[in-house]
Amino acid sequence: MINVQTFRRRKLQNCKISMVTCYDFWSAKILNQTDIDCLLVGDSLAVVMHGFESTVHATLEMMKLHTAAVVRGAKDKFVIADMPFLTCSKGIEKGMDAVQELMQAGASAVKIEGAGHQAELIAHIVEAGVPVMGHIGLTPQSIHNLGGHKVQGRREGDALKLIDDAKKLEQAGCFAIVLECIPNKLGDCVSRAVGVPTIGIGAGPLTDGQVLVLHDLIGADPDFSPKFLRRYANVNQLVSRAVGGFHDDVTQQAFPALQETYG
Ligand code: KIV
Repeated sequence: MINVQTFRRRKLQNCKISMVTCYDFWSAKILNQTDIDCLLVGDSLAVVMHGFESTVHATLEMMKLHTAAVVRGAKDKFVIADMPFLTCSKGIEKGMDAVQELMQAGASAVKIEGAGHQAELIAHIVEAGVPVMGHIGLTPQSIHNLGGHKVQGRREGDALKLIDDAKKLEQAGCFAIVLECIPNKLGDCVSRAVGVPTIGIGAGPLTDGQVLVLHDLIGADPDFSPKFLRRYANVNQLVSRAVGGFHDDVTQQAFPALQETYG
């Protein structure tokens, strides 16, 4: 299993890190059988699992419930849990309470969106022995401030700030940093500027690892197709066909067959 120490080694060895989101027990069991390096219980679960408009609606209760389910299913994986909306903006004590709850739900680390203003809390959490993954670029918890899901760091000043933010996160003690929706070249610059691995989503091929939302990569929602997404399956079609087949069999009295019934 990958751990905080091996993350940095993987960067030095130029050995890319793979991460995928996971929100529930049954998919965690499947992912536990794969070679995927780590699982993220992302606050995107508010959108993907609960149908909310944005990650702003993820609560600590939701994050704890999903984290515990994932950890029960993926016993051999390094599981990172997202600190939900505003849990990092109410002072160190409240932030630490949230960290405690997620770690006691079974997480191996927490992920925090934002840079400069989170540095003090991050340093405190790391000092307390909890690994922290940073997250900069497009930070969906700040969607209302960013004016939508837009590529970040296109202007020179914004790009320089992003590089500076990454350095601040490294200094604060982050073991890895997610870079979301930034230009390819900036993904490379940030990755070269820090000693800890960067994990990109829509940040080009030159980051030290890649993360995708599981439901996106398996094609659960055909209507969601951002530029950075590659689909590896068409689960939407697979599930529709399977359930359609079941429905047809039931209505045509072809299910259950004799061998599927108790004598
Ligand atoms: O919540 C999430 O799924 C994430 C990834 C997109 C990195 O933060």
